Parts: sequence; structure tokens; C-alpha cells
Amino acid sequence: MSAENRSAGAWLRSRIPVDEQALTAIGSEPIPGHLKRWWWCIGGTPAYLFLVQVAGGILLTFYYVPSQELAYESVAAIGEQVRFGWYLRSVHKWASHLMIATLLLHMMRVFFTGAYRAPRELNWMVGCALLILTLGAGFTGYSLVWEQLSYWGATVAANLSAAVPFVGERLAEFLRGGPTVGQNMLTRLFVLHVGAIPTLTMGCIAIHIYLVRAHGVTELDLPKKERKTFPFFPDHFLTELALALFLMFLLTCLALIFPAGLSEKANPLETPEHIKPEWYFLWAFRWLKLMTERTAIVTQGIFLAAIVFWPFVDKWLRRRNPRSEASVAFGAAGVALLLALTVWEAFDSIP
Ligand code: HEM
Repeated sequence: MSAENRSAGAWLRSRIPVDEQALTAIGSEPIPGHLKRWWWCIGGTPAYLFLVQVAGGILLTFYYVPSQELAYESVAAIGEQVRFGWYLRSVHKWASHLMIATLLLHMMRVFFTGAYRAPRELNWMVGCALLILTLGAGFTGYSLVWEQLSYWGATVAANLSAAVPFVGERLAEFLRGGPTVGQNMLTRLFVLHVGAIPTLTMGCIAIHIYLVRAHGVTELDLPKKERKTFPFFPDHFLTELALALFLMFLLTCLALIFPAGLSEKANPLETPEHIKPEWYFLWAFRWLKLMTERTAIVTQGIFLAAIVFWPFVDKWLRRRNPRSEASVAFGAAGVALLLALTVWEAFDSIP
């Protein structure tokens, strides 16, 4: 190292007094060998995709105009006039789909391996908050385009929130910012999408990762001498980096082959004949068609509460029968139900 570099390094170290040994120790923490498989460390994928979303989202916000009259045109201009705007928009769209898909896979991995059990119940609940926030980001994101699906999707969401017991009317009023869906709701969706949701997501990811580090990841049920470990840095870090490069390649291919399009501009006077939400809300949409709004909202609330508090339900089940794997059966039934409703709605053309 040259004398100049040494002095620059010394200057920086004296200005930012970091305990390098402690930092190295944190970085090289041994992690269980089974995390070499993607299925076991899949949580890193939505974490990386979240970074892609934040970086792309900031760039898109330079051009997006959150106004009822100009939102749609500004999105069209991003696609047609801004240099690489089509690429940014398409990557943002595809990364949102991949983030939700990998998040669901991560959640299933945690559920079916029982990794939510003590002492990780709280981290499961933080994970549930992350899922809700990510779905919220998806919903608010496609509402911002202000095309027909955005407008009518926002209208359905506001009407549905009015069916929530006790607080429904207030909730709908808060979402709409008035009696009808219009500029006030668009402003609120924008604030939620670019400000509140990303900030809360960042906070929840920080708590989530802190708790993962504090408890360590769940060990496999192996005899002690068969348990292998490898260091987080550089081994796991480099694997995640390779995965990040692959994901960027995949996102670029998706953006090139299926670029984000635009349908008709929002028209409050014309209800579209076929309105379908994004794939991750299809199950909820089908559920709504099977019963009254109020019953659908209440049953979905119960379903969500069961997921959030499942670690405690599981504890109760296992107290009655310590070897019980009833949770796996309940989980499989839940996944099958959601899949069936999704496929039903996706292939059903009757509005
Ligand atoms: C943006 C969302 C999320 C991110 C970035 C994230 C990230 C991670 C990471 C990096 C790990 C370490 C092990 C692994 O990669 O599997 C992990 C573990 C864990 N996650 Fe997530 N996660 C998210 C959402 C969720 C959700 C939706 C749930 C469940 C509702 C959840 C529950 C858990 C639990 C309980 C662990 C501990 C697992 C163990 O000890 O084996 N996470 N998460």
C-alpha cells in the first residue's frame, strides 16, 4: 500500500472510528450448511428485489406526476420519451411480481419447516407485516398508473374497506380523502407508495434481519457431528451477489420480452366489462364473488389473523399432541384453497 493510501485510510479511520475486528466478526459469522440451498435462504431474494424497487422507484418518481389529469400521460411519457424509461418501468413492474412470488415462497418455507416456532414467533409476525406492506406496495403501485384497472381497482378497494366492521366508513373516507375516488385518493396512494410503505418496509426488514441474526436461523434436526457451517462473508455474500446478477439478467429479459404496457386511461363514467386485479389478489376477488361483501371481509380478516397468530395456534395444537404436525395439514389446505380460488378467478371470464 502506498504512503498516500495509508494516510487516506488512517484519515478515514480516525474520522469514522469503527471497530474493524468486531465488523469482521459480524461479517464472518458461521451459518448452517443447509443455507447453501436457495430454498433455505430464499429470504435474501425479496430483500434484494426491494433494493431494486427503491432504486428504480426513485428514478421513476423524477418523471411521474401524481395528478388526476397528468398521471396517465406522465406514465406514457416515461415509456415513450424518457431515455430507458420503458426499461425502468418494466423492471419495476417485473421486480414487484418477483418480489411477491419469492416472498410467498419464503413464507411457505418458513411455515412448512416450522421455523416460526419459539423463539421466532415475533419474527413471523414482523414477516406478516412485510407481506401486507409488499401487497400494499403492489396495489398502490398499479393504482398510480391511473388507467382503467387502476381507477376501478381503487374504487373496489375503497368500497370494500367501507365493509370493514365498526371502522369501515372512516377507513373508506380516509382512503378516498372524500366521498368519491379522485385526486385526493391519487395523492394518498402516491404518498403511501413512495413514502410510507417503503419507509415502514425498510424498518420492518431491519427488525426482521436483526431478529434472524439474534436467534440464528433454525438448525436442521441433524446429529451434532453432521452439522456443517460456512462463513457469511465471503461465501454467502458472494452467492447472494451471483443471485443478484442472475435476477438482474432475468428482469432485463422479462422487460425486453414483456415490456410494461398501458391500457385505456381511467374513465369514471365507464365501468370496464372485465375487471381483474393482479394475480396476487385474484383469490380475494373470487372470494368476494361467493358471498356478501361484509361476510367476505370478515372471513378474510379471520384468515389473516389465523396466519399472523399461527405460531400460538401451533403451540396450542402441539401442547395437546407434542408430535402433532397438524400445522402442515392446515398449511397445505390453506395453500390449496388459495391456489384453487386463484385459478378459478384467472380462468373465469364471467365478470
Ligand atoms: C420483504 C420481506 C422479507 C424479507 C426481506 C425477509 C428476509 C429474510 C431473511 C434474509 C431470512 C434468513 C433466512 C432465509 O433467507 O430464509 C429470513 C428468515 C425468516 N423470515 Fe423472512 N423475510 C421477509 C418476509 C417474511 C415473511 C412474509 C415471513 C412470514 C410471515 C417471514 C418469516 C421469517 C422467519 C420466521 C424467519 C426465520 C427462519 C429461520 O429461522 O429458519 N419473513 N427472512
